[in-house]
Amino acid sequence: MSKDILEKIKSDFEKGLQEAGNDLGKLEELRIKFLSRKSELNQLLKGIKDLSSEEKKEFGSLANQTRKEVETKLMDLIEEIQQRKDLEKDWIDVTAPGKKEAIGHLNLLSKVQREIEDIFTSMSFEIADGPEIENEWYNFDALNIPKNHPARDLWDTFWIKNKNKKGEKLLVRTHTSNAQVRYMEKHKPPFQVIVPGKAYRYEATDAHHEHSFCQFEALVVGDSVSVANFKSIAQEFFSAFFGEKIEIRLRPSYFPFTEPSFEFDISCKVCQGKGCPTCGHTGWLEMGGCGMVNQRVFESAGYEKNKYQGFAWGFGIERLAMMKHQVGDIRNFRSGDLRFIRQF
Ligand code: DAH
Repeated sequence: MSKDILEKIKSDFEKGLQEAGNDLGKLEELRIKFLSRKSELNQLLKGIKDLSSEEKKEFGSLANQTRKEVETKLMDLIEEIQQRKDLEKDWIDVTAPGKKEAIGHLNLLSKVQREIEDIFTSMSFEIADGPEIENEWYNFDALNIPKNHPARDLWDTFWIKNKNKKGEKLLVRTHTSNAQVRYMEKHKPPFQVIVPGKAYRYEATDAHHEHSFCQFEALVVGDSVSVANFKSIAQEFFSAFFGEKIEIRLRPSYFPFTEPSFEFDISCKVCQGKGCPTCGHTGWLEMGGCGMVNQRVFESAGYEKNKYQGFAWGFGIERLAMMKHQVGDIRNFRSGDLRFIRQF
């Protein structure tokens, strides 16, 4: 054996390194060629044990040193290239413009409901809740709408197949008025409360009618609450909601739970009352029903007859949203169409 072999191996290795450059595949080939068990270098090292002790001393340490050099150089290089590659993969361009993450937002109806709640809270109203699954008593009978009364036809009802534990028939409420007697059972007048929430009607849909919709009920009860109080509160609310003075109008109507009863109109926001297609050229838009609470409703709640006076209304939240944001079709709200939802 001679040093020349080692020199040759070394120079072959250096040549190999140059040829491989940064190619990890080629460097791996080099590793196998120079460092694997079958490599020439390792075969040489294996043969050392058969040399004379003199040769062992000289050649052995040189061969070991060569192997070490080759190994260190090659493995260091592979590691360095690997690290550089990893860094390139994780490289972040801190000067690149930021990407805006798409985040969700409240649906227009939720926003409008919150606006309504804010305005009434500022007028010292309480915000209350009522159940969407209801029995016949609170949805109808307690409101002076007995079974077989023709007025029940006004509220096409989704009935629920199963009865409750008490054996009562159940329905999804046809109006937020179901909350009236429930609230009065727990509170003594005077009070002023609104109840926003969902209601359901078993009816065909069109641009202005939905089977599922939102209302907000108002109920104001005291010793001497009058229609004049009602009108001023309603006017205040609508002007605050639309941010401009809104005219209101009451038309005689009929509801079993109010006496007298009215339909409530506001001046058309689109044409300022001059008449346009939105308001059917009348200059007025219908908001919902209202009236002075029928004494029989107070009786349902256990109040003494003729002790209190109050007014109530049930207005549609979609209608307000449609008017404020120029939405032409009520069915848009629940269409799930992102092109609609993202506009608000
Ligand atoms: N509940 C009625 C409906 O949905 C609207 C209504 C009328 C509510 C008169 C009231 C009221 O509170 O006093 O058609």
